[in-house]
Amino acid sequence: MDKMFTVRLSSDENAVEILDQTLLPNRVEYLRLETPEELFEAIHSLRVRGAPAIGVAAGFGMYVAARSICFDERERFFGALEETGNYLISSRPTAVNLSYAVKRMLDRAMGFGRAEALPLLKAECNAIYNEDRAMCRAISELGLTLVKDGDGILTHCNAGALAATEYGTGLGTLLLGKELGYNFHVYSDETRPLLQGARLTAFELLSAGIDVTLICDSAASLLMKQGKINAVFVGCDRVAANGDTANKIGTRSAAVNARYCDIPFYVFCPSSTIDFSCKSGADIVIEERDGSEITSLFYEKSVAPEGVKCCNPAFDVTEAELITAIVTEKGICRYPYTESLSALFKGG
Ligand code: MRU
Repeated sequence: MDKMFTVRLSSDENAVEILDQTLLPNRVEYLRLETPEELFEAIHSLRVRGAPAIGVAAGFGMYVAARSICFDERERFFGALEETGNYLISSRPTAVNLSYAVKRMLDRAMGFGRAEALPLLKAECNAIYNEDRAMCRAISELGLTLVKDGDGILTHCNAGALAATEYGTGLGTLLLGKELGYNFHVYSDETRPLLQGARLTAFELLSAGIDVTLICDSAASLLMKQGKINAVFVGCDRVAANGDTANKIGTRSAAVNARYCDIPFYVFCPSSTIDFSCKSGADIVIEERDGSEITSLFYEKSVAPEGVKCCNPAFDVTEAELITAIVTEKGICRYPYTESLSALFKGG
């Protein structure tokens, strides 16, 4: 990822700049998003994606939007900013980092007129970005205590720097490990239907010089049985108070297979992805996406008969009891998570 970045504030502070991930791995192109509508489109169509990266983009987007609001008076200014925030949150429902970042920005602006709020908002969006970097680094270091040199690691979707900042979460241990001299054998699920594993994880790990093998999602079970996988590493989009974890569709299959084969299944989770207001996974809204992503998005011609019904949930929820550990920046939590997450983040 030399010199590449996933998301940042433009130097003139009038835009959010993102790497357009829909073009990877074939083209590395950046976009300048100046309006909430452009940012909404970029998040909805996964030009910028991955829970932490969406949160960071929303933080910068709220600051850019605040600069363009023309009322200074506190109530009208806040009302306009809140409207933008609600609009951005509606671009993708499952990753909590989006509403987390918007809420932080709104809390910061509350009670101030535009002129007073702008410097506070700038500091807040930069803090969201810098905290994400620090959390990713801490999570990656803790992850290294769970594996040993030479291990085979299965990963699903993309939870690297493209999905966050710098190291990312689920791939952070692998990227940091490489820098420290570890040699992991990584198996990347292609991740149907949007192929984040093929397009993004394989690209990111290859660029870092990591030994990565791309597999169909359905091959993971066999590789586990063959003893090639020592651990499963995934990121997450929303973790409920009891540890139930929403992540990319197919994550739960990997967890069920791992449990059957007695392979540890680890979730890498910055605290910005924990939603204590969700008691369990039943409270998590699962994003449904268009069926054309299954039938035709990546194919010259549709691979399914015209008119076929499609069901395309973008995420699933892995039950807490299937998760060996949740690795956060503050420490590693074990089941039962209602107690361990609360002890770590709420002091009991
Ligand atoms: O639909 P996507 O590509 O945004 O889904 C991303 C994932 O499911 C990631 O695993 C998750 O956001 C964690 S990223 C650190």
